[in-house]
Amino acid sequence: MKSTKIYRGTIVYAPQLGALECLEHAYLVAQNGVIAGVFQELPGKYQDAALEDFGDCLLIPSFTDLHLHAPQYAMMGMGFDLPLLEWLNTYTFKEEARFADAGFARTVYEALATELVRRGTTRVCMFSSLHREGTLILMDALERAGITGFVGKVNMDRNSPDCLRETCEESLAQTRRWLDECAGRYAHIRPILTPRFTPSCSDALMEGLGRLAEEYELPVQSHLSENDAEIEWVRTLHPDCEQYWEIYAKFGLWKRGTIMAHCVHSDVRERAAMRSAGVWVAHSPDSNTNLYSGVAPVRKMLNEGLSVALASDVAGGAKLSMLHAAAEAIRASKLRYYYSGKRPDEAYLTVPEAFYLATSAGQQYFGAGPGFCVGDSLHAIVLDDSALPPSRPLAPAERLERLIYADDSRTIRAVISEGRRLV
Ligand code: GUN
Ligand code: FE
Repeated sequence: MKSTKIYRGTIVYAPQLGALECLEHAYLVAQNGVIAGVFQELPGKYQDAALEDFGDCLLIPSFTDLHLHAPQYAMMGMGFDLPLLEWLNTYTFKEEARFADAGFARTVYEALATELVRRGTTRVCMFSSLHREGTLILMDALERAGITGFVGKVNMDRNSPDCLRETCEESLAQTRRWLDECAGRYAHIRPILTPRFTPSCSDALMEGLGRLAEEYELPVQSHLSENDAEIEWVRTLHPDCEQYWEIYAKFGLWKRGTIMAHCVHSDVRERAAMRSAGVWVAHSPDSNTNLYSGVAPVRKMLNEGLSVALASDVAGGAKLSMLHAAAEAIRASKLRYYYSGKRPDEAYLTVPEAFYLATSAGQQYFGAGPGFCVGDSLHAIVLDDSALPPSRPLAPAERLERLIYADDSRTIRAVISEGRRLV
């Protein structure tokens, strides 16, 4: 017996970059949690199925966050008077070291999982800390909360304080043990290999991770070309490599489905290497502004055909909200456009484009189609703008824009993940 659920509301989604599909007072049908179709008129065969009517609310795909750091959740909004490397050394590494304590990890990770759902994010690619036990606690918390995604135990064996550093042997052995402990334990959470970034990982560690990626057929996530001082440091650590990305490539970590966070300073050659390998860019504009790393050349990336999706990069980003990330992506792109002398190849992101990057783009990382595609698991949220100031009658696209810029958690009225109603 198929369980059929029908949701009624004003359905808005981004079928492709720059396009918006809007159906007022339309129907979204799910069978056993899988999308069966979007309809302006409900087909007769569904007339008797259970219907939930969200009235005038918008029904949109839930958000994907392609890069964030779970153990930085409790230090959101701290240390931003420092640039990246000083921020890591002064605040971040000390905070992450606290996740050796399983009780502390449980408290923070449960709060994080709850808040992600409340903010309408149902699919994530997440960094844990280097702690194996803490990473399992994080995965347990996400699975229980109803979130889907990839979580990585971080690997780091150099250039951090004693309290947050493994030996190469420990790092590889703990990773292997973690992978074996994950196997069969989760329905919706999967492991991803996570070398923190080049300065944190010796060649031997990178080489071992490359072998694990192959042996376990795992995806990879890391950081790339975020900040000038970082890039200069990487150059001195790897004089044999002309560009930052080549180090990941050298060790078998640069492949289809690899996610690289930031890529603020990736030039045309580094971007070409991403495109030809099928490496994804996790664009984190809030973080790039907070840590004054720069503004990523997103328009160029999109024009060149790279796979780009939005990310909060908490706690480089100061908010979990992907509504906020979308607005920040637009703002950052406008500044880049202005300071380029308004060059067409630096054109700013529009609202429909930022919405695409926060939903449809990331969905494709998880193997789904853009928007609401038949056959995909249903991930959706209901946005209620009645909490915002009274307005003249607005078109669905105008309402979406206002909701993005308002970034108000009161407007998120329902959350559906893998077809399950969470809020
Ligand atoms: N590069 C290496 N580690 C980090 C981190 O935790 N945050 C950011 N933004 N960049 C990094
Ligand atoms: Fe990051």
